[in-house]
Amino acid sequence: MGPSGAGKSTLLNILGLLDQANSGSYQLQGEAVENLRERKRQELHKKHMGFVFQAYYLIDDLTVYENIETPLIYRKVKKAERQAKVAETLDRFNIVAKKDLFPHQLSGGQQQLVGIARAIVAQPKLLLADEPTGNLHSSQGEVIMDLFKKLHREGMTIIQVTHNEKYAHYGSRIIELQDGFIRKDVALQTPASTYSKQPQV
Ligand SMILES: Nc1ncnc2c1ncn2[C@@H]1O[C@H](COP(=O)(O)OP(=O)(O)OP(=O)(O)O)[C@@H](O)[C@H]1O
Ligand SMILES: [Mg+2]
Repeated sequence: MGPSGAGKSTLLNILGLLDQANSGSYQLQGEAVENLRERKRQELHKKHMGFVFQAYYLIDDLTVYENIETPLIYRKVKKAERQAKVAETLDRFNIVAKKDLFPHQLSGGQQQLVGIARAIVAQPKLLLADEPTGNLHSSQGEVIMDLFKKLHREGMTIIQVTHNEKYAHYGSRIIELQDGFIRKDVALQTPASTYSKQPQV
């Protein structure tokens, strides 16, 4: 959390290997990321991470179905399995009827849902979500938070940027940024069941 310009998206981009820090070290699965080649960083990103962008960044000339399918193609998932996973995800997000539409034919909230669907379809170990609920109605926002809770229980590590206090409390730790620095870092009491399976990253 933190005010506009605090560095939240910048931090998420660094954690997601989409940007590099000017100084310091970032250890991911025991490896110092800054020492890796660009190709290796891209590979790690594609293989282990899902990213929900603040501005959606859906691919304009691909349909909803094709946008959600993209991460599975990157990961070389076979066609039959891709079809099954995309169908399941469309269903989970209640957007089956939108599957053949292009992003510009959707509302902002619907584009955001497709962005979230695309980020989780390949079951990444680490999900980085930049204000994933910014454009959703509160009821839709809660559905997404409940989905995140379930994915976390199944072993996914989730880092989300949010301006919403209530949604922040779905997490187990709240980090507040200001002017590029950590201003506050609070571990929250969470039910033991949340940790029945250890996050993998
Ligand atoms: N690649 C970059 N190089 C240098 N400065 C940058 C870069 N990207 C962003 N900044 C600056 O870093 C600061 C933090 O930007 P960032 O987008 O991370 O903020 P934010 O906390 O996500 O804000 P918001 O809540 O508005 O999304 C801003 O002052 C921005 O202008
Ligand atoms: Mg931002």
